[in-house]
Amino acid sequence: MAEDLQIISGSKKEQYQALLPQIKALLEGETDVIANMANICAALKQQFAWLWVGFYIVKKEQLVLGPFQGPVACTRIKKGRGVCGSSWEKALTLIVSDVEKFPGHIACSSLSKSEIVIPLLNQNQVWAVLDVDSEALNEFDEIDQKYLEEIIQLLQPE
Ligand code: SME
Repeated sequence: MAEDLQIISGSKKEQYQALLPQIKALLEGETDVIANMANICAALKQQFAWLWVGFYIVKKEQLVLGPFQGPVACTRIKKGRGVCGSSWEKALTLIVSDVEKFPGHIACSSLSKSEIVIPLLNQNQVWAVLDVDSEALNEFDEIDQKYLEEIIQLLQPE
């Protein structure tokens, strides 16, 4: 495994391009999904210093909190609730530029201003979501969507 993560400055695209091979190296040879989710959260949080980066995993018709980095968070989310539950229900990536304008947004932290949620699919079924929260409005765009979707492709359900 690589030693320390190399943190780079530059455009968002340049940051993802430097981070992606490092995440691939971190996950190489490790099949445990929780361990891999944990390292993805740590790497993203270290590079981008977002407020919260974490996974929710589908368990018995609910999303249950998985590996994350950031402040404590709500542990269970029902299908269709909040940004995470909506992303799960629709099986779509959701980019929310202002969480206060998202009906039903679940405010785990009052500091969160914008959010992106990406579903992890296996045979067309959502088995987890990646949730990223920022203290800035309008933090996330199609560049985040492209690279975060690429990163979560590295994960397989057990
Ligand atoms: N804001 C999310 C809930 C999860 S926390 O932000 C960590 C939502 O509305 O689904």
